[in-house]
Amino acid sequence: MISALDTAAIRSQFPILEREVHGQPLVYLDHAASAQKPIAVIEAQREYLSHYHSNVHRGVHALSQQATDAFERARSTVQYHIGAAHLEEIIWVAGATDGINLVSQAWGREHIGAGDVILITRMEHHANIVPWQMLAQEKGAKVEAVDILADGTLDEDDFQKKLKLNPKMVAFMHVSNTLGTINDAQRLTSMAKSAGATVLIDGSQALPHMIVDVAELDCDFYVFSGHKAYGPTGIGVLYGRKSILEAMNPWRGGGEMIDEVSLEKGTTFAGLPHKFEAGTPHISGAVALGVALQWLTGVGLKSVMEHETILSSQARHQLGKIDGLQFIGSAPSTSGVVSFIVDGVHPYDLGTLLDQQGIAVRTGHHCTQPIMDHYDIPGTVRASFGAYNTLQEVDSLVQGVERALKMLR
Ligand code: ALA
Repeated sequence: MISALDTAAIRSQFPILEREVHGQPLVYLDHAASAQKPIAVIEAQREYLSHYHSNVHRGVHALSQQATDAFERARSTVQYHIGAAHLEEIIWVAGATDGINLVSQAWGREHIGAGDVILITRMEHHANIVPWQMLAQEKGAKVEAVDILADGTLDEDDFQKKLKLNPKMVAFMHVSNTLGTINDAQRLTSMAKSAGATVLIDGSQALPHMIVDVAELDCDFYVFSGHKAYGPTGIGVLYGRKSILEAMNPWRGGGEMIDEVSLEKGTTFAGLPHKFEAGTPHISGAVALGVALQWLTGVGLKSVMEHETILSSQARHQLGKIDGLQFIGSAPSTSGVVSFIVDGVHPYDLGTLLDQQGIAVRTGHHCTQPIMDHYDIPGTVRASFGAYNTLQEVDSLVQGVERALKMLR
């Protein structure tokens, strides 16, 4: 298996990968929790903060105009990156969680009523469960979840069955952060839309790893977090279909989202996208996220996906030889996420012993407790890969697990 990526060249752009942890070279296999940052992204934030920081859309002075230009250029980068038809369809949010909360509050409170069904899936991250439960509780609506099959694939028969409940909203993840399952988002969207639903896709684990085209997907909303896509924390994107966003009322009130404010006559609101961007935004985050997406495009998303598939296949091949090790999630189509448990070993203990060897993995429920309930396990050990990971690091993981198990068993 030969990767098309020059990982040495890529790794040289990530200063953090040079550090040691517990006296060992860092092996960072926790990309799904948060990606490390290339110099281009670090520099974009430093450059902004050092040379042209100012508030956006609020000043006639040069710094404000430079900041506004960079901020809006980043929005165009996102539009281009995800194939959105209109610039106004790109709303800056704090992250995927914030984007889903925006939709559940601004769209949901107007469209969901007593007895309505919101359809999610059992593989969702808590961010795509809890906001809908909160809305359902307030409105007297019901959240239904599509089952998953033993291998971590979405149960499409159950999906079809639950679409007959005429859900107003169907919200599902593009790629599972725990199982690695890649859902056929275009097909699921088409099925949900045929049933008359509005569709939201959580793309947090897809966007850093594959080409995402919202026009092709034909979804109504798509959310992702910047920090998983090599950008900063605290910034993310909500894509919304223009006609739907236009018809929605704002969620948060404050500066920037207004047209005119009068104590006598009340407030009129700004148009898209600012209607949904109350307060001073995370300007440096947006600028640097634009740079992160350009960086990702420069590396080549097709090659990134191929590379990560090679790493996860190799990890599955080698880990699969370890006695008592069982994968959680082995769908035919998986991303660079490998979750596993080992008989008689708590994931936390294994994760701690891997950390002692400089190997960073995530352990626990990965903010997906309904998946853990499905498999009746407390958690998993999860290795997740990005463009900077190597086959040598897969070897380190496997050797690290073997060493740890010698101590634990
Ligand atoms: N959702 C992130 C993860 O999967 C935090 O680890």
